Amino acid sequence: MNIHILRSKAEIDRAVADLFIEQVKANPNSVLGLATGSTPLGVYALLAKDHKENHTDYHNVTTVNLDEYIGLPDGHPESYKEFMKRNLFNHINVDFNRVHIPSIQGTYEESCKAYNDLLNQFVPDIQLLGIGANGHIGFNEPGTKADSKTHTVLLAEKTRLDNARFFNHIDEVPTHAITMGIQNILDAKRIVLIATGASKADAIYKMITGEITESLPASFLQKHSNVDIFLDKEAAKLLL
Ligand code: F6R
Repeated sequence: MNIHILRSKAEIDRAVADLFIEQVKANPNSVLGLATGSTPLGVYALLAKDHKENHTDYHNVTTVNLDEYIGLPDGHPESYKEFMKRNLFNHINVDFNRVHIPSIQGTYEESCKAYNDLLNQFVPDIQLLGIGANGHIGFNEPGTKADSKTHTVLLAEKTRLDNARFFNHIDEVPTHAITMGIQNILDAKRIVLIATGASKADAIYKMITGEITESLPASFLQKHSNVDIFLDKEAAKLLL
């Protein structure tokens, strides 16, 4: 793992946005693996700004998102589909036919298989990740197996509590989600994980220095040969 400890979130956002811009410029047909949550917001804002100013071309880019809630009505502002439109897709010239976010169409089993088939076809050149305070990546909660593919999950109570800030009340936070599995994430050619703030410090410390274990799913990233971890001092504080 290549660890980069930078001075501020702004510096991290700039560095990671530049990696994505370089990727798209080097290969206009790139497959970008994308995440939601607070972590990528700064990166997406910079990609939008760059597109406006420098016209970086996303027309032939394919995107695959990590995960989506189950049970929110279509168009719900906190669905990850709406999140992605609001924060990135509406601000770049991505072709919506090449945008992929897992969703439930038919049975859970059929939906997971369809997304796995898609991921076999579109392997991310670069996958952006955040990390949960409990060490989840995507919505792969503690206990998820290394060889897991796209699956539906019961969200950990900690994750629902962490995400309650986006909803009016904890009861509105969905209990279930559909997510790429650990194996799908590890299939990406390159992985870039961002973590900022003291609430992530424990998970980051275990992810980097601890054993590879299902109880901290992010530790499976140790098995990948091309991972960049971008941290601020707070998230890195147990490593310093
Ligand atoms: C989002 C995702 C999650 C988040 C994680 C951190 O698509 O898969 O793993 O990256 O929950 O969330 P934030 O960034 O809100 O701290």
